Amino acid sequence: MSKVNKNYTDAQLDAMSESELAALGTQLDDVTVAFRKERYEVDGDPEEKRAATNITVWLIISVLMGIAFLAVYLFWPWEFRTHGDEGLVWHLFYTPLLGLTSGVAICALGIAIVQYVKKIIPEEVSVQRRHDGPSDEIDRRTLTALLNDSWKTSTLGRRKTIMGLLGGAGVLFGLTVIAPLGGAVKNPWKVRHALDYTGDGTLWTSGWTLHDEGVKLYLARDTGTIAEMHHGESGSHYTTAGVARLVRVRPEDIDAGGMETVFPLAEEDVLDGDKYDPQKDVYTNQMHSIHGNRNAVMLIRLRHEDANNAIEREGQEDFRHGDYYAYSKICTHIGCPTSLYEAQTNRILCPCHQSQFDAMQYGKPVFGPAARALPQLPITVDDEGYFVAQGNFIEPVGPAFWERKS
Ligand code: FES
Repeated sequence: MSKVNKNYTDAQLDAMSESELAALGTQLDDVTVAFRKERYEVDGDPEEKRAATNITVWLIISVLMGIAFLAVYLFWPWEFRTHGDEGLVWHLFYTPLLGLTSGVAICALGIAIVQYVKKIIPEEVSVQRRHDGPSDEIDRRTLTALLNDSWKTSTLGRRKTIMGLLGGAGVLFGLTVIAPLGGAVKNPWKVRHALDYTGDGTLWTSGWTLHDEGVKLYLARDTGTIAEMHHGESGSHYTTAGVARLVRVRPEDIDAGGMETVFPLAEEDVLDGDKYDPQKDVYTNQMHSIHGNRNAVMLIRLRHEDANNAIEREGQEDFRHGDYYAYSKICTHIGCPTSLYEAQTNRILCPCHQSQFDAMQYGKPVFGPAARALPQLPITVDDEGYFVAQGNFIEPVGPAFWERKS
């Protein structure tokens, strides 16, 4: 325990100099300064100047990189481009440049701070004992004095350039964290483009919404086929003519207890069976269907006896086709793909947070954090025997959002 006199009057404290208060504060805090040494014995030591210059250079690098980050973030072409699009090369540098500039800005700031502490601030080893309870007035006063003393010994007060740069680098570092949040400010109600396989930009549309526009939509599986290199007179290039990435699905393609992931495929983009045409190029459209982030659907064939015992949700009684059910693959918790279907229990499992949905009860959640059933797609089979959508989803797909009503 400290044996230091704590009974000072205000007048006595007022009479003390800053350094006396700082020394008293050290004692009151049970701090023992075991070792303290100035970095430089004389003012204007060339070594000190070198150290200050070094720190200044690091801070300038940090400031410049912070500005560069903001410039890249605001002005560099960021919108998605695919092969063959103009400006693809510039776009490819967007993310690496953000990483590089922010990374260098943070590292340079860190190096400058570490160098300042190691080369400018006096070397000191202090030991303090812990004590409990709130601080007395005397402790508060002496702490202020100690902080003032730290400020003085740091010599930052007279190093205006380093101070300014440190402040600037700190602000810019903060902006590298805060500015990107601006990109998240979007109007979720705004229709951003005409309706296509990726919806129209609003949260309640998907490729399946095309059905509302009168488009016949097949349920199609992804074959994983990739475009091939074509060697012709004009040189070598990838050709996508005649390449079908999506093919239509028939009931006999799935065994009882089986599951297939399917995507919407408009009639005009079909390139399989009797509609195969080696000259037709639908590859890009089909890839858009696969990339539509609310498009993936699980087409499940229950075992016949399970389908007989299945419970339909009111208003969705005719959404199934025989033993076949189509549920959105986008988890209603926070949108992971609910990729795992267990045939023994007829449960659909989301691997992200282990939500489970019962395929025999209209995709109702039976375990985990998801609170809503997986939306069910109404399906049927057309005259040629292929699965088609009977309609759009009757509720928004995926996680909840403010303006959804169901
Ligand atoms: S996203 Fe599926 S359980 Fe969380």
